Amino acid sequence: MNPSLYVHVPFCETKCAYCDFASWADRGSEEEAWLGRIERELGLRGRDASGPLFSVFFGGGTPSALSERGLERLCRAVNDNFRLAEGCEWSMEANPVSLTPAKLGLARSSGVNRVSLGVQSFEPELLKRMGRAHDADQARTALDLVAGSGLRWSADQIFALPGQTLDQFLSSLEALLSWKPSHVSFYGLTLEPGTDFWKQHEAGKLQEADEDLYADMYLQGVALLADAGICRYEVSNFATPGQECRHNEAYWDTRSTWLAAGNAAHGYEPYLRWRNPRGLGAWSEWVDAGCPVQGVAAEELDLEERWTEEWFLGLRQERGVDLARLRAEFPQKQIPLGSIARRIAAGQVVAGADTVRLVGDGWLLLDAIAVELSG
Ligand SMILES: C[S@@+](CC[C@H](N)C(=O)[O-])C[C@H]1O[C@@H](n2cnc3c(N)ncnc32)[C@H](O)[C@@H]1O
Ligand code: SF4
Repeated sequence: MNPSLYVHVPFCETKCAYCDFASWADRGSEEEAWLGRIERELGLRGRDASGPLFSVFFGGGTPSALSERGLERLCRAVNDNFRLAEGCEWSMEANPVSLTPAKLGLARSSGVNRVSLGVQSFEPELLKRMGRAHDADQARTALDLVAGSGLRWSADQIFALPGQTLDQFLSSLEALLSWKPSHVSFYGLTLEPGTDFWKQHEAGKLQEADEDLYADMYLQGVALLADAGICRYEVSNFATPGQECRHNEAYWDTRSTWLAAGNAAHGYEPYLRWRNPRGLGAWSEWVDAGCPVQGVAAEELDLEERWTEEWFLGLRQERGVDLARLRAEFPQKQIPLGSIARRIAAGQVVAGADTVRLVGDGWLLLDAIAVELSG
């Protein structure tokens, strides 16, 4: 299988109240030094690549927060150091406040063919509470831009936000449909330690959505998108047929390889996981030292971990777990037929001869079911 490439851009316009990704606001002055280092790291990774790239993903952080020149240099570093396979999907995450026609144009002329836009919501007070750098009108303008560009595109939304009603979530999702997206991601809010939302929660100033509201939002959101022909292919990702993000699909296949560059970026090859230093300072020193392997946190997956991973990755996808492959690759393990039968009786999974997959409320119990079936 051809490898994929993830590049982490650590800059953002503002730090959102819910986000614990390795990204920072107000560090634009560090862009020049960052570019020099990412070019160096991509040069080294290019030599590791076992073949032309299957997919590229610029994530973060916010790749559109780079200057025009910075974005152009980053794209050039990819094109100079890697070959792209025929039909290579090249995605870039973007924030409505910084995605300009000029940046979109130069990304496209450098090879980017897919944009993922962080919209989150169209509700003004929720956008403010999240600390988003844009308002609803800026989100609409950015959607006009990507939808009119002819590129493949997707938009992100968040649900179970503090104070968010079911109606507000569904209205935001419905509003998004007027741009006719072929891909949507929506995520239930996770309270991440250290974030502003976490601190507000600790101080009793933020209440999490209760379980019933969470379930209603998720299940009704899924149904709304399905009615528009945008089908779930992973717990948080939805697409019209053929528009699934191929880079994401590579992440959910234990047989794929992805290279990674930038601070906190994760790489993988069967069956080894590794992570670059997380902080910008630590990563910079590591790149300056020539990216020594001993500076990377690496973890080889043993048989038990591989088995667990297969269940978690398989169940989060609509296509489910491939039992035929598990039987062939793990002859020493037993398929948990008793647990599967109980979950079928509860209406949470369905199984064929060679697959088992989540259905209905089972999607809300993904982690618990994966723990049970892999245990
Ligand atoms: C890297 S951001 C997308 C691009 C850009 N940085 C932006 O936010 O506009 C990735 C996405 O992860 C989601 N996300 C991040 N932290 C989250 C959290 N704690 N709970 C739920 N969703 C989260 C948001 O929907 C966000 O759009
Ligand atoms: S959600 Fe996006 S824009 Fe907000 S802090 Fe996280 S990476 Fe940056």
